[in-house]
Amino acid sequence: MCGIVGYTGQRQAYPIVLKGLKRLEYRGYDSSGVALLKDKHLKVFKKKGKVAELEESLIGTDIDANIGIGHTRWATHGEPSDRNAHPHTSKSGRIAMIHNGIIENYALIKQDLLKKGYSFTSDTDTEVLLNFIEDIQTNNDCTVEEALRIALKRVTGAYCILLIEQDNPDTIIAARKGSPLVIGIGKGEHFLASDASPIIEYTKEVVYVNDYELAIVKPDELVLKNLGNEKVTPFVTKLDMDLAAIEKGGYDHFMIKEIFEQPSTIFDCLRGRLDVKEGSIKMSGVDDNIEQLLNANRIMIIACGTSWHAGLVAEYIIEELCRIPVEVEYASEFRYRNPIVNKGDVIIAISQSGETADTIVALEKAKENGAFIFGVVNAVGSSIARISNAGAYTHAGPEIGVASTKAFTGQLAVLMMVALNIAKHKKTISQEKYDGLIKELQLVPEKVDAILKNADEIKAIAEKYKDASDFLFLGRGYNFPIALEGALKLKEISYIHAEGYPAAEMKHGPIALVDETLPVVFIATNDAYHEKIVSNMQEIKARKGRIISIITEGDSISKELSEDAFAIPATDEIIAPLLTVIPLQLLSYYVGTAKGIDVDKPRNLAKSVTVE
Ligand code: G6P
Repeated sequence: MCGIVGYTGQRQAYPIVLKGLKRLEYRGYDSSGVALLKDKHLKVFKKKGKVAELEESLIGTDIDANIGIGHTRWATHGEPSDRNAHPHTSKSGRIAMIHNGIIENYALIKQDLLKKGYSFTSDTDTEVLLNFIEDIQTNNDCTVEEALRIALKRVTGAYCILLIEQDNPDTIIAARKGSPLVIGIGKGEHFLASDASPIIEYTKEVVYVNDYELAIVKPDELVLKNLGNEKVTPFVTKLDMDLAAIEKGGYDHFMIKEIFEQPSTIFDCLRGRLDVKEGSIKMSGVDDNIEQLLNANRIMIIACGTSWHAGLVAEYIIEELCRIPVEVEYASEFRYRNPIVNKGDVIIAISQSGETADTIVALEKAKENGAFIFGVVNAVGSSIARISNAGAYTHAGPEIGVASTKAFTGQLAVLMMVALNIAKHKKTISQEKYDGLIKELQLVPEKVDAILKNADEIKAIAEKYKDASDFLFLGRGYNFPIALEGALKLKEISYIHAEGYPAAEMKHGPIALVDETLPVVFIATNDAYHEKIVSNMQEIKARKGRIISIITEGDSISKELSEDAFAIPATDEIIAPLLTVIPLQLLSYYVGTAKGIDVDKPRNLAKSVTVE
């Protein structure tokens, strides 16, 4: 939620900040703004709408400056509007600030400031924090840095803030708690951003700022301090990412590019881990902690959104193969209830961004209770990767489209390998079954490729049903979570109401919705449930529902029951979710684009949810 960018150096700041904001728009896109500092003069520009609208509004404006900060917003406090857009300016007009996060006790601080005669031009918590800082500075006659430190000790919530001040014309002061911040180190220049994508084309040397740290950033100097004003040594890491990975590469949207990348991202995820010849799976996160995993009393999986659906698939697989009890929790529920977590419990945290606020807090809580945290994360070096005791990266590369696609299949591939690995050590799987499954897993990239070659069939289905007002997605067993994921994708990208349900449970409610207008998507591949799901299809057909099915090649029975059917290559039922989800991703993409929706930036959503 919200993307932030900063630059201080010798180049023009505005083009760098603007380009960075465009790269970060997946984090929020309801308004944006920049603050530039030149000759002790602060210039602040902001605009409701996407970054392109800000850019348009600034054509012909004097944007000359070598230091600047910029923000793209996902509204929390106050509607999307010009006045609520960041940067905010302090009462005196001397300081400009941007913020990603939420200041939870802002209302109390605001009351105090109002009593002192402050007035506010926006509804945001950010403007309150900024004036709180300025008030502390005035009362204590101290530097802004010192005032910021005092203020941060008194606020609760999450923040990544950048501020620039008139009297300190080459310095950006930054602070982080709970919302990410990366600093790129150039020659005589520094770049600051919510993630590495705005930085990558200038430098690969970066520092990930930790919670409760302040950064004082000048062109030639980067000083990190803790809230106690003690210097902290910056830990410089090298980015393992290239520019092509964050550009569209000829596709119309990031989402379709990312869907089509899946043969190679899944391959990358398996590469170096799965060895069919040797009959082994090597994952250092599992191998180095195998005792912990084998002796787990139970496994709890904590995640949000699409990642939570990957967790549900993993529950079915781990219980089947490893015979360890598994519970899957929404992070937002886990963190506020009083869950029973003990030493000996293993928590699997699943997150694409590694920055989801609810997941982070839930993990911290579980860790305090002695649980062992295994992270399945896509964003290298992210907060969840660092909180985890061990883990495995999904290696899907940067995912920019707001709806998760390639990260989800990466999560499934990792979780399948983790389950197979544990099962082998635990001897809860026969050698024959293990060998068969790793062979099947190895074949997934080429089978996904085969599915994608028939994408036009899904496009035709999307055109046909795009005007439906509701959709029902049904699946059983390993494909039940894929029904949930299919419905979520369609909702996110096309704004069509959709529900995912276990196919049999449909009789206990959703069947009342079925009539001749309702498209019902069945995931009906050949597996142990096939006959059962065919019966469910009959039940829908008897009520004149319009059946669209995802079937295994050669399944004429399901095909006959369907108005439209899409066939995928045969595979083991445990591996099937990696294939069945692909046509559902395509379906949502093609319905969304047919309806003219900006599928990479659907309304109200943000990719990285860093607020609770
Ligand atoms: C947001 C995104 C989803 C994602 C969810 C969890 O809602 O739009 O695509 O599944 O957050 O995010 P995470 O980064 O933790 O996987």
